[in-house]
Formats: sequence, structure tokens, C-alpha cells
Amino acid sequence: MCGIVGYVGGKNAQDFLISGLKRLEYRGYDSAGIVTLNAEGKATLVRAKGKISNLEEKLAQNKTSDKIGIGHTRWATHGEPSETNAHPHKAGPLYLVHNGIIENYKELKAELKDFEFKSETDSEVLAALIESFYRDGNYPLVNAVVQALKLVKGTYGIAVISELQPEEIVVARSGSPLVIGVGHDETLIASDASALVGHTKRAIYLNDGEVAVVTAKSIEVKTLNAEPVSAKVEEIETNLAAIQKGGYEHFLLKEIMEQPNTLTETLRGRVNAEQGTVHLGGPGLTEAELRKIQHLVIVGCGTAYHAGLLASYYIEQFVPEITIETVIASEYRYRNAYIPDNSVALIVSQSGETADTLACLREIKKQGVRTVGIVNAIGSTISREVDGGTYVHVGPEISVASTKAFTSQVIAMVIFGLTIAQAKGVRSTMLRPYISEIAKLPEEIAKVLSEAEEQVKAITKKYHELEHAIYLGRDTAYPTAMEGALKLKEISYIDANAYAFGELKHGPLALVDDKYFEIALLPVGELYDKAVSNLQEVLARGGKVIAVTNNDKFDLPVENVVKITTELEIFAPILMNIVLQLFAYYITVAKGLNVDQPRNLAKSVTVE
Ligand code: F6R
Repeated sequence: MCGIVGYVGGKNAQDFLISGLKRLEYRGYDSAGIVTLNAEGKATLVRAKGKISNLEEKLAQNKTSDKIGIGHTRWATHGEPSETNAHPHKAGPLYLVHNGIIENYKELKAELKDFEFKSETDSEVLAALIESFYRDGNYPLVNAVVQALKLVKGTYGIAVISELQPEEIVVARSGSPLVIGVGHDETLIASDASALVGHTKRAIYLNDGEVAVVTAKSIEVKTLNAEPVSAKVEEIETNLAAIQKGGYEHFLLKEIMEQPNTLTETLRGRVNAEQGTVHLGGPGLTEAELRKIQHLVIVGCGTAYHAGLLASYYIEQFVPEITIETVIASEYRYRNAYIPDNSVALIVSQSGETADTLACLREIKKQGVRTVGIVNAIGSTISREVDGGTYVHVGPEISVASTKAFTSQVIAMVIFGLTIAQAKGVRSTMLRPYISEIAKLPEEIAKVLSEAEEQVKAITKKYHELEHAIYLGRDTAYPTAMEGALKLKEISYIDANAYAFGELKHGPLALVDDKYFEIALLPVGELYDKAVSNLQEVLARGGKVIAVTNNDKFDLPVENVVKITTELEIFAPILMNIVLQLFAYYITVAKGLNVDQPRNLAKSVTVE
């Protein structure tokens, strides 16, 4: 939610700020702004409503050669998207960009009586508060920032510059990520390391409660209590290719198509199909600890929650005497739920920054429960705070809708389940089919991608004008249907909901009419015939059905069918999800909507 950038060094600050904001645009895209200072401290502030491209157009008339500046791309929380509410906010000689929420902004605002507020944002209150400590001009900026932050309740990643000190940027974080790029005679600031790629390979990830003063040649990190911190410089692993579209029209299509490779990265060194074994080092649990596990809590939001739900269906199939509860983080954090002894909590998050998931992690840790992260973003807050964990290694996911992360999250959790099963002495004949199918999955995904794309493209043209969709599945195809429906609604704005096939007759069947279409997931397996009977109930009422199946003999009179050929049975729903990803993508393209940046959403949800 919101992206921050900053630059101080020998080059043109505007150039880095604008390119950095473009890389962070996935974090918010309702308005953006940049301020730079010349050597005398004269500021050039440019802000624009809407996309970064609007800001870029305005900047063309406001070009500077200034060597220091900060910038911001916004996802509105307080105050509508407008130029006035866009950051940077000015307070006296100070300019501030902020990512997060100042919860007590009303109380603070009431105290700042002589400040003339121009925006409706909580962030401007923070700028004014810092300025109130800085006012006489001889107070070091960092001290004013620290004084102000001590009064703040809420979350922040901030960068502040002053016309009176045009050689330094003060940054701080609590609950919103902030990375400092260490360059040669230049220092860069960003909300996430992707903005730094191509500029430097070395970065300091600021921790909560830390503040730093950065100049072109120095970085000084302290806690809010003024204790010096010896910050660790880490290597940025991402390369330029990983954050570019690579010839695809949209990041979403690139990320869907990447899945054979990204899943291969998830599996690397973790699955030995010949021996029929799996190995996961990251969770840091001994064989004895794994053996004792009786209960799993899986926590996530949105797609990560669906990944957890699907993984739980699988893990229950092969781990004996285990209970699994998959929970929505924003609910669970307030539920005061009892977690029994011998539990492990899996914390699932692509970004590793989702506020609700992070809050759950902290609550769960308070109960002394062991936490294991299933995270993509390396160095993210969740990955740092869990007791152990496993990275899914799918590389940057830039399109707002999550695709490749889902597939790898499910499989990473299934592998974790398999390590528990191995430790508990489950017979290898029971586990082998899972392991052998997992090993084949990347190749099977590649097959489905090439086989299904044209079929899906042809179908989507018929449905993109309808406004309602129902996704149906049983067993492992049910969480798959939930994920398919989320993907469709978030990017195409078609109102899509998922139901377990067996639930249809308990209510949703009443919806079936010509304004709706139904997507029926029919994987071959134990419950196939039952799902087909449920589907007949829809067909009997004139439903416009698209069936997705791996049964090559499927011949029901549906409007359309997408057939996938695969030797996999257990993980056929994962392959069907790939079809659903393509379906959501091509419908959205047919509707002419912004695929990678759907309205009202942001990639990384760092506010509650
Ligand atoms: C949907 C989507 C979101 C995220 C959710 C959690 O396509 O991307 O539902 O899955 O916001 O995000 P992470 O995984 O970063 O915690």
C-alpha cells in the first residue's frame, strides 16, 4: 500500500524517483508525487492524480537537475485520490512521504492548532507534527522526526527532507517496509528492493523502530531511543529480467506463463522423486518435533488463504491424526482462538508484508506456538519474524492479482505436510504418488498452458459481457473454484462466487438464470460422478456451463468445455487453476480493462 522512493547522490534525482515509482506502482496507483531540492534547498514539488504516467507528463514541464528528492505513489486510505491529498506533503521547510496509517491523527491534528492543513490525509498531520519540533530551524531533522514518531500510533514507512538541510534524507519504519540501497556515492530509498534493481545490488532492510539518516556517502541507523544499530548490508537477489514484462503484453500473462519455471524453483532441492522423499530445511523443526505435530493453523488473506485451504485438503489426505484449521487473517487476529499444544502455525504471504497476516503472526507467537512462514518476498517482515520458514522462490510478482505465488504456496505447504508424514512414519507407498506427481507438475503445467490458452481465448469472447459467474467444485476442486472466482472478480469486475457443488441445492441454485454463467470443475477421481450429478441440476435449469475437466470422455451437453490432458490425478485441480487464471486474464483483456492494476486494489496490503 503506497510506494516510497528517495534519492541522494550525484545523479539526477528525478530520473531515479520516476523509474522507482514505476516499479512500485503495483503498490498503489491513485496519485503520485515527487519533490526534489537543489543545492540551496529550493524545492520543486510536482504531484498528479492518477497513474505515474500523469506525473511524468507534468514533470516534463518541471525538469530539474537536483540531486536529492523523495517520491510516492498512493493508495488512498484517508481522503479521496486527488492532487491535494497526494504526497509529498509540505510542512514549513519539510516534505514527507508516508506509507501506512497514523491511527491517532485526529488527536494529533487537534493539538496542531496553528498549522494550516490543506489535505484530508493522516500523513500531512505527521508532516506538521515533525515540523512543529523542527520549527526553529536549528533542531537536527532526525531529532524532530524521532520526537514526532514517539507520539504516533499506527504504522509508517517515511522519508523526510528539509529545504534547510538539502543533503540528507531521514527515513524510519514501523510496520511498513523500507529498504535503503547502498550505491557508490549515492543512496537510494524504496519500499521494496525491486525499485533498486539495476542501481545497486546492496541493501539495508530497516527494521521496525529504526530511523536512519542517509546522505550520498553515509547511512546512520539508530533506534527511536537513539541506540546505534549496526545495520546488515544484504545482497539483492532479483535481476532486471525478473521485473520486466519480457515481451508479454501484461505482467499477469508473464507470471501465469512463468509457472513451470517458478514451481521448479520452489521444488529445487526439496523433492527427490526417485527416492520418494521430500526435504525442507527452512522450518527448522527436528524429526521429533515434526512427529509431535497434531494441529496446524494456516493463516493468510485472499489468494494466500485459498492456497492454505487447498493445501489443507491435501495434507489431511496423508497425515494421520492431524487437525488443520485454515483461517482468514483479518478475522483470526480478533478471535481469541485457542491453539492446542503440539501445534504449528503456517503463515502464508506472497509479499510477507500483509498487515493482517503479520498481526496474526504476532498474536500466535504470544501464545508460544511455533510459526513457519510460507513467503515469497525475501527479507520481508513476515519472513524475518517467523520462527522458521520456507521461501517459495517464485521471484517478484508484480501484477496485482496473485498467480504464480498461489501454485507454489500450495505445493510448498504440501511438501511441509509430507515432511510431517515422513517423520510420523507414514508408509512410503502412501506418500509416493504425491511426491511423484509433484515432481511432474512443472512439466504438466507447461502442457496445460500450451493446450488450454487457445481454447480459453475462444471461450472468453462469449462471456465477457455477462456480469455474474458461479464457480463450482468439490473436494480439492472447491478451494480451486474459490481462487478462480477471486481471480475473475478482482481483475474483470465480474461478480464471481464459488460454491461447493454439494451446497448448490441449499441455496445458490436459485441464482441460475441467463445473467449468470457457471464454471464447473470436474477432476477425475472419487467424487467425479457426484460432481457430475450436481452439474446436471444446473443444466436442467438452463445454466450456461463451462466445464473444465481432465476426463477425455466428458460429453455432457454444456455450452463449452476446456479439456486438459494430464497423467496427474491428485494435482489436476492445480492444473485447472491455471486454466482459470488464463480465463480471468483473457476475459479482462476482452473487456479492455487494466489487467495488472485493477481498480481500488494494491498489491501489498500493509494497512488493516
Ligand atoms: C489476489 C491477491 C490477494 C493477496 C492477499 C494476500 O490475487 O493477490 O488476495 O493474495 O492480499 O497477500 P500476501 O500473499 O502478499 O500476503
